[in-house]
Amino acid sequence: MVAAAETLAARVQRWQRSHGRHGLPWQGTRDPYRVWLSEVMLQQTQVGTVLAYYDHFLQRFPDVQALAAAPQDDVLALWSGLGYYSRARNLHRCAQAVVALHGGRFPRSSEDLTTLPGIGRSTAAAIAAFCFGERVAILDGNVKRVLSRALGFGEDLASGPAVQRLWQRAQDLLPEKGVDVYTQGLMDLGATVCTLRKPRCDACPLQADCVAYRQGQPLAYPVKTRKLKRGRRHNALLMLQRGDRVLLVQRPQTGVWAGLWSLPEFADGSGLMSLVGAWPGSGGWLPTVEHVLTHFDWTLKPLHWQLPTDLPPAPPTPSPDAAQAQVQVQALHGGRWVLLEEALAMGLPAPVRRLLETNLTGPG
Ligand code: ADE
Ligand code: SF4
Repeated sequence: MVAAAETLAARVQRWQRSHGRHGLPWQGTRDPYRVWLSEVMLQQTQVGTVLAYYDHFLQRFPDVQALAAAPQDDVLALWSGLGYYSRARNLHRCAQAVVALHGGRFPRSSEDLTTLPGIGRSTAAAIAAFCFGERVAILDGNVKRVLSRALGFGEDLASGPAVQRLWQRAQDLLPEKGVDVYTQGLMDLGATVCTLRKPRCDACPLQADCVAYRQGQPLAYPVKTRKLKRGRRHNALLMLQRGDRVLLVQRPQTGVWAGLWSLPEFADGSGLMSLVGAWPGSGGWLPTVEHVLTHFDWTLKPLHWQLPTDLPPAPPTPSPDAAQAQVQVQALHGGRWVLLEEALAMGLPAPVRRLLETNLTGPG
């Protein structure tokens, strides 16, 4: 068993050296700040997308101290478009914890790394393996797939104890040396060869003793019965324009798009229209936006309303009946009137950014 396990690791390492990914900006460094940043960005995002953000982020925040000291808005603005914004908020909190609790130096063991915000067991292991050579297993989604196929691990990964057993198998497979190359190799295999729908077994270094391949059943693994029941939500958004400014509100610190700047959200279109229809100016519905989030699909109906530019100048005064409107419309509280180009520099959710870019015309 042990000999076979070493063979799998050696194969992964040899394959990584010749066919894996090399020369990416976060490879070739053992600086945990840089490696941590790349791992968090790569958690739900492909390498090509991350490349467009990584260097830019590091220019603005070259070290953990700079990141910790930044306002959250600046961090979210640089993250804008990468999605899964809880990652950015945790990133910021983690930087602050490293500075406040660890003197600005990342802990060196995977166990201590997991105490930090946003660093789960697999991310901690990747940082510890890449930066400090710790012999510790990773098991992110890609690696679960590769290992469950290669081992023919047929237990249901919806079950916690089954996942624990796969962690143990992953730990048993670790090589004595070169755990960094091995870890990168497993990630690269999962991303480029042993993919979710079309594994390229003929290009795989594990084919010779892959159980799933031998069974002719790569897609039968990993087994996961619990189906994520996706919900659907419908809401309306108000794109309130006055001259060359638009009203943005900051979203609460919890929930969807937490902490980002966005358009005021309403429970439904008819409520929004009956409110706004009483205001001066004119407007209409824009095409519906479908946005896919982790736990639900979100249908957003945007209403574009242009207030007359000759309303009393001091904003925000969205209606002659502003006081009442403000009570009715919690969402407008704390709103800011911003120029289009200012808005585009803020931390906006991607669909809101597209709405503004597409529809915010000059004063009509
Ligand atoms: N996904 C998460 N971490 C990664 C890495 N270091 N390389 C490629 N894909 C990854
Ligand atoms: Fe995945 Fe196929 Fe390789 Fe097995 S042989 S690990 S199923 S790519």
